[in-house]
Amino acid sequence: MAMHPHLHPPAPGPAAAQAEPSAPFLRACRGLPTPYTPVWFMRQAGRYMPEYRALRAQASLLELIRSPEMAAQITLQPIEAFDLDAAIIFADILPPLAGMGLSLQFVKGEGPQIDNPLQRPYDIDLLATPPAHETLAPTLEAIRLVVKELAPRGVPLIGFAGAPFTLASYAIEGGASRSYTKTKALMYGKPAAWKRLMLKLVTVQADYLLAQAKAGASALQIFDSWAGQALSREAYRRYVQPYNQMLFETVRRAGVPVINFSTGAAAYIDEVAAAGGDVIGADWRMPLGWYWERIGQDRPIQGNLDPTLLLAPWRELKFHVDALLAEAAGRPGHIFNVGHGILPETPVDQVRRLVDYVHEQTRRGA
Ligand code: CP3
Repeated sequence: MAMHPHLHPPAPGPAAAQAEPSAPFLRACRGLPTPYTPVWFMRQAGRYMPEYRALRAQASLLELIRSPEMAAQITLQPIEAFDLDAAIIFADILPPLAGMGLSLQFVKGEGPQIDNPLQRPYDIDLLATPPAHETLAPTLEAIRLVVKELAPRGVPLIGFAGAPFTLASYAIEGGASRSYTKTKALMYGKPAAWKRLMLKLVTVQADYLLAQAKAGASALQIFDSWAGQALSREAYRRYVQPYNQMLFETVRRAGVPVINFSTGAAAYIDEVAAAGGDVIGADWRMPLGWYWERIGQDRPIQGNLDPTLLLAPWRELKFHVDALLAEAAGRPGHIFNVGHGILPETPVDQVRRLVDYVHEQTRRGA
């Protein structure tokens, strides 16, 4: 049975110039040799940086995201501060849900909150599937602004979106969840409604990711942050993987590398990898070699330092970084990153020292 999401026509406007395909990050995404191991960090823009906190003191998270100028400025903050090999657009995975008709807020100290979560199958039928250029235009504009700044420096920009399960969990639970009870109750108990929800999310996310590439993003990352925490291997295979596969299949048309990131999914990382993506994002729970054995030795990998190590003394951090780099052994197709987002408590100097250390240790004179 073919399940094709109904895609919108591509967003209008000419394709923007993208970063040099020779950038080490983009070469590593293709499994090609690089002069040193490229480095970037999930959540590299954010509360651990004083420059971010200064802007955030004057505006809410959603106001920052919905201002192309502010979002562009925040995206560039870590690029100015550290020798990073890629930028990631300052946005969040949840605003697309607002475009579908859910009322999204970020509540101080509590995180995201949706006041009208999906409660009945009928609520799913009421969800809209607008094209990204209608509801997420500020982020697409921020991408154009950032790419203008980054292109001359040869630094690629990563666009991103959430995967259907992770987004569904916020839409149904109304916020963060520990057990994903309501989400899984719908998934197991109302399979037809689940399928309609997942297909709508695939439609909206595919269009958003293609629009980000068109606006100038030269790589894309799909965050399925909670699929690994919430599901058994069999449940992932039956209720989530087919939709992720559709999303990766559709997004391939963008012609840019796509990173497939999940956390807590080590137990079925082979199934995660089979859903698609040029690069597999590894969380910090298992060593890189363990992942490589399960996803294929030639599949590019991104990861996977425990972000909490950035709070440890340098000698402890260095010990773990050395082990990680030994594990990667300089093979092509390794992008150095944290195994989940940088924590707000992270000292800025540790980040700078870490980036420089990885570059120095891996320089191959190629
Ligand atoms: O990586 C980057 O620098 C780009 C920006 C980015 C943000 N969110 C900004 C943000 C990215 C890539 C995300 C992704 C995101 N958002 C995920 C997937 C990644 C992951 O961590 O697994 C998820 C699950 C979300 C949803 C979300 N956004 C939550 C649960 C929260 C509250 C918890 C928290 O960390 O505050 C957010 C808020 C958020 N998104 C902040 C930032 C910088 C903090 C907002 C603030 O300034 O108060």
